[in-house]
Amino acid sequence: MDTASVEKDLVNILFTEEEIQAKIQELARQIERDYEGRELLIVGVLKGAVMVMADLARALDRHVEMDWMAVSSYGSGTKSSGVVRILKDLDTDISGRDVLIVDEIIDTGLTLSWLVSNLASRRPASVEIATLFRKPEAQTMPVSVKYVGWDIPNEFVVGYGLDYKERYRNLRSVGTLAPHIYS
Ligand code: PRP
Repeated sequence: MDTASVEKDLVNILFTEEEIQAKIQELARQIERDYEGRELLIVGVLKGAVMVMADLARALDRHVEMDWMAVSSYGSGTKSSGVVRILKDLDTDISGRDVLIVDEIIDTGLTLSWLVSNLASRRPASVEIATLFRKPEAQTMPVSVKYVGWDIPNEFVVGYGLDYKERYRNLRSVGTLAPHIYS
């Protein structure tokens, strides 16, 4: 979906499709360098990471395996509860593997900090994180992130995988949602 189709729903455009694609290429070059000569498994965190996984995997000029996890906080709106459960686990045995978790955003940090320790307990050779966006002001759990696209303000952002009530994920750009949409 193009930005023009939802212009009235957005306060501003934070990143255009072109800027996002350029950043993905930049991250891909770093990843190619860092994992040269090693097998790489990238793990996408459903559902938001679908876009960045699809674009990052194709930007990587090397072989890469892909797997997926779906995780969720218990209850409704309970990220603050600190409890995460697995809705869909990996198909891959990651022991001895180099694993790169790919997500579109780190907000409080709860999901990724939990996921890293969960995957680390499976004895991979390494486990690192790549995220397109990070909200430093929202973060309550420390997470060590190897690849970050951009640090962004603590605003309600949608697009490129990020949703509001399951909408806007298919927007090519990323923008700040107008308050009249969610209030
Ligand atoms: C989003 C995003 C991260 C998580 C980050 O997923 O994809 O996985 O939130 O938030 P946190 O740092 O506060 O844990 P969400 O739970 O919204 O599910 P979705 O990807 O299906 O939209």
